[in-house]
Amino acid sequence: MSLPPGVLFLINRIPQIFSPILTCYVILTALLRLSSSVQVSFWKKLLVSFIFQPLLVVIKVWYRDYMHMKEARGFGAESPPRYKHSKIGGLDIIQALSNQLEEGYIGDVFHDMMEREKSSTIIFRTLFEDRYVTADPEHIKAMLTTQFDNFNIGNSDFLGALLGNGIFTSDGDLWRFHRGIIRPFFNKGRITDFEIFERHTQVALDQATARLQEGVAVDMQDLFSRFTMDSSAEFLLGDDVRSLSAALPYPPSSPLYAKGGPHSSDAFTKDFRRAQDLVSERGQRGRNWPLWEFWKDEIKERRIQLTDYINPILERALERKRNKGEKNGGKEQKTREVKEVGSMLDYLVGQTEDKTLLLDTILGILLAGRDTTGCSLTFTLYMLAEHPSVLKKVREEIIEHLGLERSPTFDDMRKMKYLRAVINETLRLYPPVPTNIRVSVRSTVLPNKDPGQKGIFIPAGTQVTFIVLLMHRRKDLWGPDALEFDPDRWLDDRVKHYTSNPFIFVPFNAGARICLGQQFAYHATSYFIIRYLQRFSKITPPWVTT
Ligand code: HEM
Ligand SMILES: *[C@@H]1O[C@H](CO)[C@@H](O)[C@H](O)[C@H]1NC(C)=O
Repeated sequence: MSLPPGVLFLINRIPQIFSPILTCYVILTALLRLSSSVQVSFWKKLLVSFIFQPLLVVIKVWYRDYMHMKEARGFGAESPPRYKHSKIGGLDIIQALSNQLEEGYIGDVFHDMMEREKSSTIIFRTLFEDRYVTADPEHIKAMLTTQFDNFNIGNSDFLGALLGNGIFTSDGDLWRFHRGIIRPFFNKGRITDFEIFERHTQVALDQATARLQEGVAVDMQDLFSRFTMDSSAEFLLGDDVRSLSAALPYPPSSPLYAKGGPHSSDAFTKDFRRAQDLVSERGQRGRNWPLWEFWKDEIKERRIQLTDYINPILERALERKRNKGEKNGGKEQKTREVKEVGSMLDYLVGQTEDKTLLLDTILGILLAGRDTTGCSLTFTLYMLAEHPSVLKKVREEIIEHLGLERSPTFDDMRKMKYLRAVINETLRLYPPVPTNIRVSVRSTVLPNKDPGQKGIFIPAGTQVTFIVLLMHRRKDLWGPDALEFDPDRWLDDRVKHYTSNPFIFVPFNAGARICLGQQFAYHATSYFIIRYLQRFSKITPPWVTT
């Protein structure tokens, strides 16, 4: 039995809240004792100690700012422009960020702050804590590569609550250990085997065709969610969860809207989605999150649901391992080559039988791979629907290389430059991981792109948010047409913007922690788009037909 998070939070805070009051009281008593003439009652002294608290906070913050300033001067660096809040404690900023989550657009609030301060790196303060926000390629490059060791992931209260101690939520040696285990699985042979994509793409397209023949629109985002669920589950878990085989949902305008019973994988994707929302809500609330989840740790609850779904799959993989082990006289698992193994899970159980470790790894990679790829497919198709001339051109490239029947190989995909440009352009304007966070391990200085200017000082333990989405749309980096969807920018002269500074485009991050699934994601997206355009020649968004 564990206490509710809110209660635990308050208990933990007791010393923090009362020890300054007690200290104040003790000092006051000592001072009064020196001048023995004055007699002050216990209650009055306590009252004074209480009143003194806000002043103490001000002194503490002031002292911290002073120390940071001194430290910055020692480094020969300075702070970035500060966005000034208008309400005490930065409540206006907190409010704006939470409104954005509900009804705004990712990056809006920070974009406005940067515009107002005329700087792509700014600092602001909420609840007496400074936060840094940047859309500057030099700073992002420093955090991800040249100063990799100075910055941690550091988000265990949020993502860690869902994913445990997997690759996404660990740093240092533990992270190196995880990456070492997972990495061999992404070798070329394994990720250029498109048989999994082919099977699930065909099921998805058959489902879409059947629905269109009924004269009803298809919710492509939903279809992609199922496609990436089924293909990731098979690639990762060696298990076909068959979410595509379940009835697709009807649009709300259809009388059949409510039809199509829940499928177990629907429940899984729904739980996963809810969990991801909770993680970002917690991220906004920061360290005080237990006040919002007072009686129940909502994320823990979701994790238990997700575990219930994964556990039987885990058991089956362990069972497969044991069966194989018996057949081959036992100890061959460890030394087996990756290519002979089926799914990633089959490979992982060969490395360890620690169930928590296996679960954390699987949940993490499922989160990493499924939603991001689904997102990239959804936006690619959306862009094709909005830009018929681009669709026509990419379809011509597909037909030129493959005709209307043949399935693409790795080499085919490599040659289809326009398709890759379309996907890049989509990832530029709609990066599936639009914002990210690092925390400084020690005080450090981020370089200033202007060599005459001082570097940007980052104190130890500071949260730095980097907004890839805003950087990908900067006119000073991409040219005046930065906000336009134009795949040709990757193929004509404008590509120089990117080739002269690759850090202006980092949908998969960069450096030692670069996405392990980058190729897998490009392949999955390309494969589906190719097969789709071989079968269909146009995409009509529902707002055009109705
Ligand atoms: C379009 C699709 C994808 C995008 C945009 C994307 C993006 C990213 C980003 C930005 C990171 C860095 C996270 C961080 O360090 O803060 C990352 C890491 C990672 N991604 Fe992806 N990803 C995609 C697809 C995939 C797929 C399909 C898989 C696996 C099947 C995958 C596996 C991973 C793993 C294992 C990491 C952790 C690497 C590490 O921390 O060392 N990703 N991804
Ligand atoms: C797409 O972006 C990748 C970087 O993620 C780059 O290596 C590649 O050259 C780009 N391809 C095209 C056709 O623009």
